[in-house]
Amino acid sequence: MNQRQILSTFGYSFCSRLLVVLATISAGATPPKSSSASAAKTAFNAHCAMCHGRDGTGSALGRSLGVADLRSRAVQKQSDAQVVAAVSSGKNNMPAFKEKLTSEQIAQLIRYVRQLGKKK
Ligand code: HEC
Repeated sequence: MNQRQILSTFGYSFCSRLLVVLATISAGATPPKSSSASAAKTAFNAHCAMCHGRDGTGSALGRSLGVADLRSRAVQKQSDAQVVAAVSSGKNNMPAFKEKLTSEQIAQLIRYVRQLGKKK
C-alpha cells in the first residue's frame, strides 16, 4: 500500500464514520414526518389557543375579541388561501403571524384547523 492508498482508505473510513455520526445527530434533531401533526398541535397550543381555545371553540379572551368558532362552517367553508391570508396578515383583532411563523408552519396550522373542524 503506498501512501496515497493509505490516506484515501483512512480518509474514506473517517468520512463514512463522520456521516454516520451526522446522520445520527440529525435523526435525533429533526422530528420524523409523522410527528408534524403533533408539531402543529404544539404550535397551535402555543400561538393560537390563548384566543381560540385548544379545541378551536374560542377562549374567554378570544370571545371578547370576536373570534369565530374555528370548527364552524363560517370558518371551514373558507378556502385554504383565505384562511392562510387571515393567519399570515391578520384580520380585525386577529394578529398577523407571518413574522412569527414560517409559511410551512402556517400551512401545518391550517391543516390542524381543518382537523378541528372534522372533530366537531
Ligand atoms: C389575540 C388573539 C388571537 C390569536 C393569538 C389568534 N387569533 Fe385567530 N382570530 C382572532 C380573532 C379576533 C379572529 C376573528 C377575526 C374576524 O373575523 O374578525 C380570528 C380569526 C381566525 C380565523 C378565521 C379567519 C376568518 O377569516 O374568519 C382563523 C382560521 C384563525 N383565527 C386562526 C388562528 C391561528 C391558526 C392562530 C395561531 C397561529 C390564531 N388564529 C391566533 C384572534 C386570535
